[in-house]
Amino acid sequence: MTEIALKADSLSVSRGRVPVLSDITFDVSVGEVFALLGGNGAGKSTTLLTFLGFLPPRSGSVTVLNKPVTQNVEFVRQKSAYLPEAANLYPHLNARENIKYFLSLAKVPRSASDIEAALDEVSLATEARGRRLSSYSKGMRQKVAISLAILRQAPVLFLDEPTSGLDPVAIDEFNQLITKLSAAGTTVLMVTHDVYGACQIAGRVGLLKAGSLVGVFEAPEGGQISPEEVHRAFAEGA
Ligand SMILES: Nc1ncnc2c1ncn2[C@@H]1O[C@H](COP(=O)(O)OP(=O)(O)O)[C@@H](O)[C@H]1O
Ligand SMILES: [Mg+2]
Repeated sequence: MTEIALKADSLSVSRGRVPVLSDITFDVSVGEVFALLGGNGAGKSTTLLTFLGFLPPRSGSVTVLNKPVTQNVEFVRQKSAYLPEAANLYPHLNARENIKYFLSLAKVPRSASDIEAALDEVSLATEARGRRLSSYSKGMRQKVAISLAILRQAPVLFLDEPTSGLDPVAIDEFNQLITKLSAAGTTVLMVTHDVYGACQIAGRVGLLKAGSLVGVFEAPEGGQISPEEVHRAFAEGA
């Protein structure tokens, strides 16, 4: 039996008085990469914020590792790593300093050699590690954020538009890294408006339109989801 890591059950969420998500149901298995695909304003970021306990469900529920988020916010944030659209690391600190600082906030003690090993794992160039993040590309900042997730041993990764603004080489590196983490058991929920990127990396792609989940596409055994098929559904009625 596959274990469920994340579940949205008849979830509706409003922001202010405006309904943003309507009756959404999906789950993500342990070690799966699930991509939620949708246009601007579809409710993708709202979904992630709800899983992290920053926005309350108006009705329905979200669970992380079988615990309802609303009553277990601390547990959920401890188990999760969240990469927002704009990485929230400190530009005036270097990679090692950022990592040490955020590990100490999370009360996760790690040695200097653990930190170097995690930076090796994400392939951040050694010469860059002592440089301020203000000189980094988005891809490099993302590597630092993912190495932090690795050091925290976060079993769940929430990614908001992770490949937007990355060059093709950085996208390939990112895809390889996410595939490796998921193979090791990390559950990944990413949201994106990039049809091809979603199909390239995800085992399943959910299509979100104006706050409703209108379809879920699944990769065939050993293959990839057809981007043409998803693109047609994405563009339909747009
Ligand atoms: N801070 C906010 N306050 C009120 N409404 C918001 C806020 N952020 C987003 N919204 C609204 O919620 C809807 C979904 O936004 P969002 O989840 O950010 O979409 P996406 O990430 O898919 O682009 C949009 O209509 C947007 O205007
Ligand atoms: Mg968004």
